[in-house]
This record gives sequence, structure tokens and C-alpha cells, in this order.
Amino acid sequence: NTLRDGMGNMAEQTIAVVLAGGTGRRVGAPTPKQLIEVAGRPILAHAVAAFDGHPGIDAVLVVMAAEHLRTAAALAAPFGKVTGVIEGGDTRTASSVAALKALDGRPDGTRVLFHDAARPFVDAAVIGRVLDALKGYDAVAVGVPSSDTIVAVEDGLVTGMPPRESLCRFQTPQGFRLGTVRAAYELALADPGLRATDDCGIVHRYLPEVPIRVVEGDERNLKVTHPLDIVLAEHLAHPAPATD
Ligand code: CTP
Ligand code: MG
Repeated sequence: NTLRDGMGNMAEQTIAVVLAGGTGRRVGAPTPKQLIEVAGRPILAHAVAAFDGHPGIDAVLVVMAAEHLRTAAALAAPFGKVTGVIEGGDTRTASSVAALKALDGRPDGTRVLFHDAARPFVDAAVIGRVLDALKGYDAVAVGVPSSDTIVAVEDGLVTGMPPRESLCRFQTPQGFRLGTVRAAYELALADPGLRATDDCGIVHRYLPEVPIRVVEGDERNLKVTHPLDIVLAEHLAHPAPATD
């Protein structure tokens, strides 16, 4: 695609950023959780493979903590679309900023998808829904309905009970036009009170006029967060044989 259309088509490039710069404190393993093997390969490799194998993705950028850069590079080597393995930052936000810096000079129309490396089971259907929605929106999130009631709590007391039908839980990837997410992060970095948990959070807070389209996620697209999630992930990767 790039070869045929040359630079004229650069604006249409789609880049997946796989964020693997965390340490996995809550899982508590000796190595970062994204390096733990599930079904015979590291969680990070599962995530990279999903984007590498998707026809709508042109390039994959992996973000990793400095001390594990070589491990990540070795792990990413077999995937032809990986164009960089770069050093992240101390927070997820800082790791996203590092990725944006690596994409400096790319046209505003570039599509960029930020994905948690800790979600090994992102699949082509979820990625496809994000890419589809990016045709009409500059910011796209992936959500699943919450089966639990979610309430706001302060000091042990309920302060708000939004109707469950209006709530969803965000997963990743979150997709953006590069110009939009870059502008949001520029404002965020100028804010001394900056705090956010994900990239949509930054866009929502600093560019509130930008609509964020939510497309359907998948319960299988879980984020390995606690030790129990490793057990669950292993099970999801090897479904029990059907009995009849
Ligand atoms: N992440 C990152 N850079 C950081 C922190 C997090 O790229 N400085 C990535 C993680 O590697 C993960 C994703 O962001 O793929 C979601 O973060 P989270 O689940 O919180 O992972 P960790 O921060 O590693 O886990 P914990 O918070 O338990 O330490
Ligand atoms: Mg974290």
C-alpha cells in the first residue's frame, strides 16, 4: 500500500501502539505481566500478533520500559509490521506521550490505535469496529456493558448512582486521528494538575468538544490485572473440549 501510493497516502496510514511500559505491580510477578506466557507465548506477543495480522494495520509500535527493551525487541522481531520498540515512561500517560513523540512529523490524518499490551485477546472483529468508526469520528473507544451496578463512592458513602444502562467499561484499543490526540496531549502536558487513566480520558478532558464514539468490545478482551486474570487468560486460550 505504502509502496504503491507513495508519500501521497501517508495520511491514510494506520499505526497500532502497543503499550507495554508497565511493571504489573498488581499481578506481582518477578517480570512485568505482559512477559508472562499464556498458551505458550508472552501476553505481549499475543497482542502484537493481533495487530500485525490485521489487514487494516500498517505498522506496530511497541512501548516498553528501558530495562526490558531488548526482550521486547526480540519478541517483536518475527512480526513484519513492527517498525519500532521504544522506551516508555513512568506512567501509562507518559508511555503514550513517548509514542506520540515517535510519531512526530506524521500527518494529522494518520490513524493511531493505543492498545494495552496486557490485553492478549483483542481480535480482528474489535480492531475492525474501531477502524470502521474512525471513518466518521476522530476518537473511538471500545466498551462493554457492566453487569454489576457501578456507583460513585466518597469516604465510604454513595454519592452517585448513574443508571446502569448508561454506563460501560472501557477496553482498548482506543483509536484516534493523530492530529486530535496530539492536540489533546499538548494541552494535557501544559496542565500541572494532569491525571488520566487512558487516552480517551485525555481527549475527553482537554478537547471536550470532540465526540468519542463507543463501539462494542468483547468480554474476552480482558486486561490481565490481578493474579487470577492469568488463570482466566490461560483458560480462555485453551477452551475446555466440548462434551456431549
Ligand atoms: N503501561 C505503560 N507504561 C506505564 C504503565 C503502564 O505502557 N508506565 C501499560 C501497561 O504495560 C499495560 C497498560 O499500560 O499494558 C495498562 O496498564 P496497567 O494494566 O495498569 O498495567 P501496569 O501499570 O503494568 O500494572 P499495575 O498498575 O498493576 O502496576
Ligand atoms: Mg498501571
